[in-house]
Amino acid sequence: MDYPTFKKLAGALTGLELSNYKSQQMDRRINSLKTLWNIETYEDFLKLLQSDPQKFKEFINRLTINVSEFFRNPERYEDLWNRVLPDLLKRNREVKIWSAGCSNGAEPFSVAIIASELYAADRVRILATDVDREILHKAQNQPLFNDNEVKCVPDDLRKNYFEKRGEFFRLKESIRQMVTFRFHNLHENHFDTDWDLIICRNVVIYFTSEAKNILYQKFFDALKPGGYLWVGGTEPLLNYKSWGYENPAPLFYQKPVNNVA
Ligand SMILES: C[S@@+](CC[C@H](N)C(=O)[O-])C[C@H]1O[C@@H](n2cnc3c(N)ncnc32)[C@H](O)[C@@H]1O
Repeated sequence: MDYPTFKKLAGALTGLELSNYKSQQMDRRINSLKTLWNIETYEDFLKLLQSDPQKFKEFINRLTINVSEFFRNPERYEDLWNRVLPDLLKRNREVKIWSAGCSNGAEPFSVAIIASELYAADRVRILATDVDREILHKAQNQPLFNDNEVKCVPDDLRKNYFEKRGEFFRLKESIRQMVTFRFHNLHENHFDTDWDLIICRNVVIYFTSEAKNILYQKFFDALKPGGYLWVGGTEPLLNYKSWGYENPAPLFYQKPVNNVA
C-alpha cells in the first residue's frame, strides 16, 4: 500500500478527512509515528489502527494537535456574537480577550471578525498564545487558509474578510492586525489578569483532570468580575460552581459580576 492510499483509508477510519490537511507537518507526524512504532509497511500501520484502540487514540491525538478552523462550532460563535460580546461591550470601554491555545490563529481571527462586525474593532484587544512556536510563526506570518479552515465562515463574511488566492483564502490585513501573538505555556505559573473573555477550546482534552482543575481555577482568578471563560464542545465544566462560575450559555462560564476577590 502506498502513502496516499494509507492516508485516505486512515482518514476514513478517523473521520478526520486527512486529505483536507495537506500540510507537510501532518505528513511528518504520520510518518514519525510509523517510525516510532517500528512499523514496516502502511498496510501494517492501518491494521494496527484498526485493532488497537489505544494506538488509534494516540494517532488521532498526534494528528489533531494543531487542527483549528474559523468559526469552529458555529452555534457557539452565534452566542458570542449575539450575547457575550455585546454584554462585555456594554459594560466595558475596552474588552480584553485571550485566546489560549490559539493554534494557527483561526480562533482569535474569528473573534476579531465578529468584533469588526459589531463596529467594535477599536475597542477589543485580542491576545493569542500557544506553546507551539512553529504554529505561532505561521499564525503571525502566513495569512493563507485552506477550504477546510474556512468552511464554517458564513458566505457574506468570507466575501468581506477573505480574498481568494489560487486554492487559498487570504485573510484581510485589518483583521490580522487586531490580534497579538505570543508564546505561553498553560502549565506555567504566570497568567496575565483582568481578562473579559478567556477562550480555551480543544486544548485541555489531553490534560490530566488535576491539571485541568488547576487551570480552571487560574482562569477564574485571571478573569475580571463579569468576565467569561469559553471552553470546547467536549470539555464542559461539570462542576463549574465549585470554582464560583455561573453558566449563562452553553460552554460559556462567567465569573459573577459582583465577585469580590
Ligand atoms: C486542537 S488546537 C485548538 C485550537 C483552537 N483553540 C480551536 O479550538 O480551534 C490545540 C492547541 O493547543 C496548544 N496547546 C497544547 N498544550 C498547550 C499548553 N500547555 N499551553 C498552551 N497551548 C497548548 C497546541 O499547541 C495547539 O495549537
